Amino acid sequence: MSTTYDVVIIGSGPGGYVCAIKAAQLGLRTAVVEKRATYGGTCLNIGCIPSKAMLHASEMFAEAGHSFAALGISVGSPKLDLKAMLAHKDATVAANVGGVAFLFKKNKIDGIRGTGRVLGAGMVAVTAEDGSEQVLEARNIVIATGSDVAGIPGVPVDIDEKVIVSSTGALELDRVPEHLVVVGGGVIGLELGSVWARLGSRVTVVEYLDTILGGMDGEVARQFQRMLGKQGFAFRLGAKVTAVAKAGSGATVTFEPVKGGAAETVSADVVLIATGRKPYTDGLGLAEAGVVLDERGRVRTDGHYRTSVPGIYAIGDVIAGPMLAHKAEDEGVAVAEIMAGQAGHVNYGVIPSVVYTSPEVASVGRTEEQLKADGIAYKVGKFPFSANGRARAMLQTDGFAKVLAAKEDDRVLGVHILGFGAGEMIHEAAVLMEFGGSAEDLARTCHAHPTLSESVKEAALGAFFKSIHI
Ligand code: NAI
Repeated sequence: MSTTYDVVIIGSGPGGYVCAIKAAQLGLRTAVVEKRATYGGTCLNIGCIPSKAMLHASEMFAEAGHSFAALGISVGSPKLDLKAMLAHKDATVAANVGGVAFLFKKNKIDGIRGTGRVLGAGMVAVTAEDGSEQVLEARNIVIATGSDVAGIPGVPVDIDEKVIVSSTGALELDRVPEHLVVVGGGVIGLELGSVWARLGSRVTVVEYLDTILGGMDGEVARQFQRMLGKQGFAFRLGAKVTAVAKAGSGATVTFEPVKGGAAETVSADVVLIATGRKPYTDGLGLAEAGVVLDERGRVRTDGHYRTSVPGIYAIGDVIAGPMLAHKAEDEGVAVAEIMAGQAGHVNYGVIPSVVYTSPEVASVGRTEEQLKADGIAYKVGKFPFSANGRARAMLQTDGFAKVLAAKEDDRVLGVHILGFGAGEMIHEAAVLMEFGGSAEDLARTCHAHPTLSESVKEAALGAFFKSIHI
């Protein structure tokens, strides 16, 4: 017997599960197909959530070891119980994936365990673990299958998740590696490198580009790299990794200067491969169903998340755009609204991005480099946390807030924050930009004192006219 749904969503990550809840709230009969044992996709199971549990715990460990004394707290030398820390991470994951199961029940969403395959418009086959198959009928199908580890382009690497690991294995190491080599100085490399550096590893990051966090505002990236250097990170920039091989109980990483020169090999106890992710479309039957992919293997969609097959939509990491959970969530809401006959929309100009290191790096809108490339005349306001009273009281004076506004009309075009709590502070900038606000609007908005957020206000004051406290 087959069941007819208004929507069948393949994948229960932040894109898929949020889409399901929104669709159900809008009165659509909804099912979600998920092959993993728990809901939540990469983000909740092996990505954002467990990494944040480890980032927080390791930050507390480092604070206890290095910063408490300056606050008049003597705790001696803190002792690491890695097993307990990993258990905290697992409990965090369990609570979050359980939360999604609860929300599915609450919203009367059918969760269907198994691997989904698109048979064509209106039909999804689901293969259960025991091999049995059922076919779901659906007025609409949403592909929300996310992404997978991409590996190093052109370099075969045997990721065993023990010695040569992806982000998944890097969240499960049962001992602190003496030397961790991270291939790729992007978000994953720096976040997970930070976890193990704080727990005692020597960390070397090998990065192809001349900068870490490529695409981030250059001034922010440079200052951030200096801060990580002080935390003990070693960087090999402009270095192309050409081989990663197991050697004894560890591994070796070979790289060569991008500009040409002699290759070098370093040994590591553990190597983290953090060279990007690729859209996950394996076994979905998209070619057979006539769903067209783009030149980078992503499902091609129009501005309304419609694929080349009517009634089949796609959202999240599997389509174009930044591979961010919150981008996928917003697309999930928008596509649910579209399927319900409403006008769903995502403003891609205002998607914040946060690197959850210490300090955090957060940005929304355009960088100085992008504004220059686009030939847009802009003003800059900058304010260092060293001049912020609250930051001083917290001994968190590293970094700065930076507001970029159009010379022509003072409209805020980009905000970049490097500092403690940046990931929380960025959202006032996002709201302001969503409403097309100006640096003057932000500067004239009363900010509570003493707060770190006053630095954002002061940077806006600087862009509009002059900062007060510097
Ligand atoms: P990424 O694309 O951010 O960085 C990968 C880096 O690897 C690049 O800088 C690239 O130049 C470098 N690379 C590539 N080939 C290389 C080679 N042969 N030798 C040396 N370096 C090489 O990818 P990452 O960090 O793996 O993250 C994957 C995705 O997940 C990204 O889209 C990221 O935005 C997302 N993500 C976001 C998080 C957040 O928002 N906090 C956290 C974790 C992941």
